[in-house]
Amino acid sequence: MNNKVLVTGGTGYIGSHSVVELINAGYEPIIVDNLCNSKIQVLDRIEKITGKRPTFYKIDCTNEEEFEKVFVNEKFDSVIHFAGLKAVGESVIKPLEYYQNNVGSALVLLKLMKKYNVKNIIFSSSATVYGDPISVPVYENAEIKHATNPYGETKIIIERIIEDFVKANPSFKGILLRYANPIGAHKSGLIGEEPIGIPNNLMPYITQVAIGKLDHLNVFGNDYNTIDGTGVRDYIHVVDLAKGHVSALKKFKEDITCVAYNLGTGRGTSVLELVHAFEKANNIKIPYVITKRRFGDIAINYLSAEKALKELNWKANLTIEDCCRDSWNFQVNNKDGIK
Ligand code: NAD
Ligand code: UFG
Repeated sequence: MNNKVLVTGGTGYIGSHSVVELINAGYEPIIVDNLCNSKIQVLDRIEKITGKRPTFYKIDCTNEEEFEKVFVNEKFDSVIHFAGLKAVGESVIKPLEYYQNNVGSALVLLKLMKKYNVKNIIFSSSATVYGDPISVPVYENAEIKHATNPYGETKIIIERIIEDFVKANPSFKGILLRYANPIGAHKSGLIGEEPIGIPNNLMPYITQVAIGKLDHLNVFGNDYNTIDGTGVRDYIHVVDLAKGHVSALKKFKEDITCVAYNLGTGRGTSVLELVHAFEKANNIKIPYVITKRRFGDIAINYLSAEKALKELNWKANLTIEDCCRDSWNFQVNNKDGIK
């Protein structure tokens, strides 16, 4: 195996942290990203952290002709496919764009992998494939039916496409990583999550309230059947999540077909618990207002982390406090965004 790895979506939030961990582990990541939801300056930041500048191609993965050039120019055995659109609400309004971009990218990628005999793929899937789980923690063998939105549906569809592809081409290997909710940032404060406009997700909303960009947090419902009535999720530090990809890559040395792993902590945290943890970690008050439930939200979702520990020898090590401190550090260091 050579140490080059193709990383689609590598300038994005999870991708950039993973590129750093790949470099730290001795890999040579080659990034393909169309920059539709990330900035070119992320490359400078990665270089500052690691001392190495990854090779970068500004290419849309749905553009087969352009994407093929990367397969011609570079030699690699494995691909980590992060590229995709990820805003749940937007996917309900623009379903075709989501299917076209997410499913379209995966199809082009697999076709090129087959043509150039690139055998290993890790795919960024999501806890969202489990829908509203019957019980928690959720195990990988839970039944997967329908997602509650087009974004989630693209994840289910791509998982099935990869499974079918590997079945039809037995020398290929697939790892489907189902992520819990990533928060936090690299401890340097140089890379992190940079949502465009008003954030949809909880942690970036909290940090923008903390810095005064937003007035207060809206807590979407306190009448769920949970510890304090607010929604419970499995929040994982993005650096732990990134390291999970390095562990998954090693699995390709084994004789596997297509396998799914949860990357989570096995622990649930409520909205108010996260707010209070943030307040305590950073000594900042977060004003909040309880509002009605957000359409499409579920009460509880957290993931069993047992299979990844057993088979990938990976587990999340950082705490909710680490997440809160590092998210805030990134916000403070990048008041006007990554420049
Ligand atoms: P992100 O938006 O920060 O990163 C995705 C990157 O992909 C961006 O840099 C974007 O420019 C790029 N991209 C999108 N479409 C592309 C295309 N057609 N061609 C080339 N580049 C393209 O998102 P993220 O949070 O880093 O998520 C990475 C992956 O993990 C996504 O597939 C997402 O669905 C999945 N995921 C994210 C979460 C989460 O909460 N952040 C949870 C579960 C799964
Ligand atoms: N929440 C609020 N106020 C906000 C934002 C969120 O109370 O302003 C609450 C939500 O109701 C929920 C919790 O905070 O209970 C987490 O919400 P997020 O939007 O941060 O995360 P979700 O669990 O809804 O979804 C995220 C990603 C999906 C991904 C899923 C599982 O947005 O793409 O995690 O990985 F699929």
